[in-house]
Amino acid sequence: MLQHSKHFIIGASGQIGSVLTSSLRQRYGASAVIASDIKKPSSELLSSGPFEHIDATNYDELLAAIKKHNIEVVYLMAAMLSATAEQHPEKAWHLNMSSLFHVLNLAKAGHIKQIFWPSSIAVFGPSSPKVNVPQHTIMEPTTVYGISKLAGERWCDYYHKNYGIDVRSLRFPGLISWQSAPGGGTTDYAVDIFHKAVAKQPFECFLSEDSALPMMYMDDAIRGVVALMEADAEQIKIRSSYNLAALSFTPKILYHALLRHFPNFKMTCVPDFRQAIADSWPESIDDRCAKNDWGWQHQFDLESMVDEMCLRLK
Ligand SMILES: NC(=O)c1ccc[n+]([C@@H]2O[C@H](COP(=O)([O-])OP(=O)(O)OC[C@H]3O[C@@H](n4cnc5c(N)ncnc54)[C@H](O)[C@@H]3O)[C@@H](O)[C@H]2O)c1
Repeated sequence: MLQHSKHFIIGASGQIGSVLTSSLRQRYGASAVIASDIKKPSSELLSSGPFEHIDATNYDELLAAIKKHNIEVVYLMAAMLSATAEQHPEKAWHLNMSSLFHVLNLAKAGHIKQIFWPSSIAVFGPSSPKVNVPQHTIMEPTTVYGISKLAGERWCDYYHKNYGIDVRSLRFPGLISWQSAPGGGTTDYAVDIFHKAVAKQPFECFLSEDSALPMMYMDDAIRGVVALMEADAEQIKIRSSYNLAALSFTPKILYHALLRHFPNFKMTCVPDFRQAIADSWPESIDDRCAKNDWGWQHQFDLESMVDEMCLRLK
């Protein structure tokens, strides 16, 4: 069904949105994928297919674009991320929740047929298990971002159960990409470190060297979105959000992996306010439900991710 639908990416200029837009355009055709953002688009994004300037907190703007392009599938990627959200709690809550409600209500009103909305490992908190955190467990997030993602998950499940909305979601770990810069999260260091190494500059990490966090290479994340969205509806048994796992490493482990490519590279660690956010999150994720329900499997391990990042950025 997705092959013949029009797809709408909200937040298409962001770290994930930009890569998702180009991947979906390759898969479904450039004119079938409408990009949108509140930010001015890059020339690359603008030249590769249709673009709409849209504020995700404005229901009427969303509805007008959906009607104009006959859109059926929406990917809501606009949000305020963990580190930035701690600086602007109410703004983050407003953006993250109102955009989700708009999209869910557009589906409820029959304007769209399917929604992808990303959740995050930030739904877990200090009282959740640290290692291999299961799909269903204690969830008491202590960050604004995590609270908004957990609330969002419950609303997705509610709209599915009560209104039959086909909403699908993944709890992304920290994502690592060469195409796009990260947008204010606690795992941003794992992208920044590559840029410094390639530029032959020293790197100052804002987390301690032993902070282990779940991570994933962007190609795997995009494959996950496509597989989840193209799966038969009966396969999707979880309508809050699926645990998704690939890698788990510390700054020290990543640094040592980079030394293979850049033997003179130097890293120092000066933890800031983001350390407390990282400390509240799990180290690794149990993603058996995603594997069993719709066949999820990551492809990139630490070594292949580092090789690919270095090759692309060089
Ligand atoms: N990147 C990660 O590592 C990661 C991990 C877990 C979950 N996620 C989730 O994935 C989604 C996308 O993350 P990302 O890393 O691409 O974020 P990002 O910050 O890089 O991109 C977000 C985009 O949304 C746009 N935006 C902000 N406010 C808007 C508004 N009012 N209207 C329209 N567009 C607006 C921004 O201009 C930006 O281009 C978010 O929901 C995020 O919580 C990301």
